[in-house]
Amino acid sequence: MGLELVSETCLEDRGARDPVHKPIFDLTPPLDLGLAANFTAGQPFEAFKTMRENAPVMWHSLSDKNLEGFWALTRYDDVRAANLNTEVLSSQKGGIMMAYPADDRRHPQLHSASLDTMICLDRPHHMQLRREHMAYFTPGYVSRLKAKVEAKVTALLDDMAAKGPKLDMVRHFSSQLPLFTLCEMLGIPEADRPKIREWMDMLELAQYVLESADFANVDPAQVMQFMTGVQEMFAYGRAALLDRRANPKDDMLSAIANVEIDGAKLPDAYLDGSWLLIIIAGNDTTRNSLSGTMKLLTQFPDQKKQLIANPELIPNMVHEAVRMVSPVMYMRRTATQDTEIRSQKIAEGEKVILYFGAANRDPEIFENPDIFDIHRANAKDHIAFGTGPHVCLGQRVANMQIEAAYRQILARFPDMKWTGEEEILPNGFTHSIGKLWVDLGT
Ligand code: HEM
Repeated sequence: MGLELVSETCLEDRGARDPVHKPIFDLTPPLDLGLAANFTAGQPFEAFKTMRENAPVMWHSLSDKNLEGFWALTRYDDVRAANLNTEVLSSQKGGIMMAYPADDRRHPQLHSASLDTMICLDRPHHMQLRREHMAYFTPGYVSRLKAKVEAKVTALLDDMAAKGPKLDMVRHFSSQLPLFTLCEMLGIPEADRPKIREWMDMLELAQYVLESADFANVDPAQVMQFMTGVQEMFAYGRAALLDRRANPKDDMLSAIANVEIDGAKLPDAYLDGSWLLIIIAGNDTTRNSLSGTMKLLTQFPDQKKQLIANPELIPNMVHEAVRMVSPVMYMRRTATQDTEIRSQKIAEGEKVILYFGAANRDPEIFENPDIFDIHRANAKDHIAFGTGPHVCLGQRVANMQIEAAYRQILARFPDMKWTGEEEILPNGFTHSIGKLWVDLGT
């Protein structure tokens, strides 16, 4: 069997309807988790707590009546078990987003690329495609990359020192470092990198732009800019990958371009999808973890003081920061058969959403979960990177960057802190800090 096009085979939304089986936990959702605009004050941790305590498997309808509702999981054990149960809870059957824009509101290429990608595949093709990326995520590769990342951190901090003391950390640091790292891995030339950054900024707003009915709330110029930007982004990726097919180099783009599944090269749809996945997955998540760590160090000054005195605690601090930030808010699965979670019956075809940020603050697993504790013995058990066959490929690369960044930040700017000013973007999928003002304390 050849590689399926998930965009052509996955279940489409069937419109609003009640769940097949009555919800056994009776809770009205504390807020509309389907609305991007509801996330501009950060992740809704209070709502997650209410859900975790009162309705660990909660039915949530969507306000857009064209879209089917979902079951929300918020307890650690349930999210973990769901992540591992890939036979029953599929990534492929309905994709990994809570909902996909209706026909008249989708950007066709963005829509198919967001589905025709390994993160939306199940066995066996998922593993075949994943395997081809692996050489770029081994401990050996990551440790070679580290020296370049450290040099980039120094250069970015030099630049901040020259521009400071008060500046936007996202613009000058958090958005720059992951982009640099990813471009090094992919083999993207320096001159093209500013473009990739523009596309990243644009994609962080995709849900907001596409979900506004008839684009009523969005400036038409912004919609046009978005559509053109998406076109350019795919044209660039496709050309780069086809070039690597003709002239392979020692980089991850060449690895992706030359993947063979069941003896055939990747179809164009998967070239677009692999390109989209890798530039989003590697950039946005690490960007927001870098910024989120600065917020935590400011909010918990005693922890920061201990880190400065004991830099050997930095690796555990990184796990603890990623646990608390959990930049990927959720992943979706679709039931391949009737099933049950905590005695709640879930019907075949229904959506199940795994809230990682909620799971990572489950007090059953993490004592005093809202406290940033750099000594936390089980910080490493967080599931911000997911778990199971789709577990984040880039977790070593992400941890390495956060560690390299904070080793230098804490040594060079021990008094650096967040000023309290920030802008969080309307995005219900990734926690997206658009601006974060910091004072270098110099
Ligand atoms: C703190 C930073 C990051 C977080 C929190 C994060 C989170 C995640 C999560 C939750 C998944 C699992 C998806 C699922 O279960 O369906 C995932 C998958 C993935 N991540 Fe990350 N990620 C981060 C950084 C990175 C980086 C730096 C890269 C690449 C350089 C990367 C590449 C990927 C890829 C390719 C996948 C798909 C794996 C698959 O489907 O087999 N991620 N990530």
